[in-house]
Amino acid sequence: MSNPQFQQILADVRRFAEAATNATALEEFCVSRMSENLPHYNWIGFYMLDRNEPGVLVLCPFRGAPTEHVRIPVTEGICGAAVAQGNTIIINDVTSDPRYLACSLETKSEIVVPIRAGAEIVGEIDVDSHSRSAFGPDDRVFLEECAAIVGDYIAEHRD
Ligand code: SME
Repeated sequence: MSNPQFQQILADVRRFAEAATNATALEEFCVSRMSENLPHYNWIGFYMLDRNEPGVLVLCPFRGAPTEHVRIPVTEGICGAAVAQGNTIIINDVTSDPRYLACSLETKSEIVVPIRAGAEIVGEIDVDSHSRSAFGPDDRVFLEECAAIVGDYIAEHRD
């Protein structure tokens, strides 16, 4: 990863995860560090699957403009598609993808990374940028590693 901020943030997230009291606090720490240090991450949010209503993603800690999409069925949006497919999705130009659910008119590109606790998908990290094609292989590696830290935390602290 060429951006030194990625390594630093991952080191900080790993350290925070060792002492975090709950997953929401860890997610809050992630969005806070990303929004402070990554200028092309204009909206960052965790969507987690509702334990009482499987098949629906619920907005959890986020940074950026408030969104109307606080609950997203896994059959809808780029967010739903990432869970349904079980892999990272990068959209270089959101206007070119009919699945895209608009959050802000300023958003031009998006990356969504599933979070796994063991083999089970439990949620995802969603990042939007005001620039087209803002997300490359380094962003993918960085966010997938971040998702792995959060997923491992959830797997280890499940009731
Ligand atoms: N763009 C997402 C919806 C979430 S908002 O961007 C915050 C989607 O297409 O699923």
